[in-house]
Amino acid sequence: MRILIIGGGGREHALAWSISASPRCEQVYLAPGNGCLTSLAKAKCVGLIDSPSVLAFLEGKKIDLTIIGPEAFLVDGLVDKIREQGFRVFGPNQSAAQLEGSKAFAKDFMQRHLIPTASHATFSDLSEAADYLRERGAPIVIKADGLAAGKGVTVAQTLGEALAAVEECLSGNKFGEAGHRVVIEDFLQGEEASFICMVDARQNILPLATSQDHKARNNGDTGPNTGGMGAYSPAPVVTSKIHDRIMREIIEPTVQGLLAEGIPYTGFLYAGLMISPDGSPKVIEFNVRLGDPETQPIMMRLKSDLLELIEAALDGRLHELTIEWDPRPALGVVMATATYPEGSGKGAVIAGIDDANALEDVTVFHAGTRLADDGSIVSNGGRVLCVTALGGTVADAQSKAYAGVSKIRFENADWRTDIGYRAVEREKG
Ligand code: AMP
Ligand code: GLY
Repeated sequence: MRILIIGGGGREHALAWSISASPRCEQVYLAPGNGCLTSLAKAKCVGLIDSPSVLAFLEGKKIDLTIIGPEAFLVDGLVDKIREQGFRVFGPNQSAAQLEGSKAFAKDFMQRHLIPTASHATFSDLSEAADYLRERGAPIVIKADGLAAGKGVTVAQTLGEALAAVEECLSGNKFGEAGHRVVIEDFLQGEEASFICMVDARQNILPLATSQDHKARNNGDTGPNTGGMGAYSPAPVVTSKIHDRIMREIIEPTVQGLLAEGIPYTGFLYAGLMISPDGSPKVIEFNVRLGDPETQPIMMRLKSDLLELIEAALDGRLHELTIEWDPRPALGVVMATATYPEGSGKGAVIAGIDDANALEDVTVFHAGTRLADDGSIVSNGGRVLCVTALGGTVADAQSKAYAGVSKIRFENADWRTDIGYRAVEREKG
């Protein structure tokens, strides 16, 4: 089979890495991809970025399956366009992608279907928003309505901070069109977890292994929100009892609720959750795709054939399959450019990737990298690499991942040094 993966991050490298291992995979194309092709024999990067060129490519190469990584293409309706041309694609259509594309849509949907989430209100008028903030008080959470690459959220500890965030959003300067409406929601206490499922063409649901991301830029979960600075799987906060509650109270009502509204969902569905101290799960946000960097540790643990799973999902046969995981935890550390999330890096030569890959149970997933004309790998983005390792315990996976990180050098490289700290604390009992 010839597979096209749209996107150029660590998630897409991990998908390509997993799919390449399938005996049925003949060739994986990544659009636009990154420097990862140097370590994937079956991969090729193609520079496609807009829908018309993707559609022409599908025809030209007779692509058997397309998988879309980033949300922007899903929200833009690329799945609908690919299907209209008669090609197979695994992902939600444009109506279903609103679940991520509009926080206001997602919040209203959850309210309609009694899916547990923080109370909220939506505003486009500054003085109304300010009145609401004064009434609710801090801490409180301000979210740009539209897509903002994980950076449109402010968890405000004071009323002043909250007012500034609302003003920044509604003035249209910071997030453009995405910030013309704001969602203001109550602050939720607890521990976060990422819960990602596959949903098939007949709405059968197969949950993937759980994971936990580290969204804040700096150690101890301080600093601005990012796309994610590291992740591990499984997330021990999701006990089997909580897992059952998440399926029953959140995932199943979401898939059924969408269907009842005439929006059958197919694709990866990701619920970002807050697990309260009493074990109640609440939705922080939905994503209509795999998480980045959660996918990297999840793919390292996946023992089943991903291609087979996706094909079964497209045929509505997920209920016939079971999914097999490596019981060992996996943990990934994102190496970023020092200025991320504000800035990104370009052209810094990266040394030591092969040395890190040579370590047992360590895989370096490329994100913002590029293969330069002279054959070197150079930085090309904010999040540059995700060094991921399997270990007997989370602490072991953590020390292996950081051993990998220590082999790698590039100018202005920066990373959190505490990825997995909550799970490591739990292991210590
Ligand atoms: P989101 O993009 O909606 O996932 O928000 C980004 C991050 O902001 C989340 O991963 C949380 O760490 C934090 N956050 C968002 N909403 C809330 C909330 N209601 N209560 C507490 N933290 C939140
Ligand atoms: N890591 C969070 C996300 O992919 O949205």
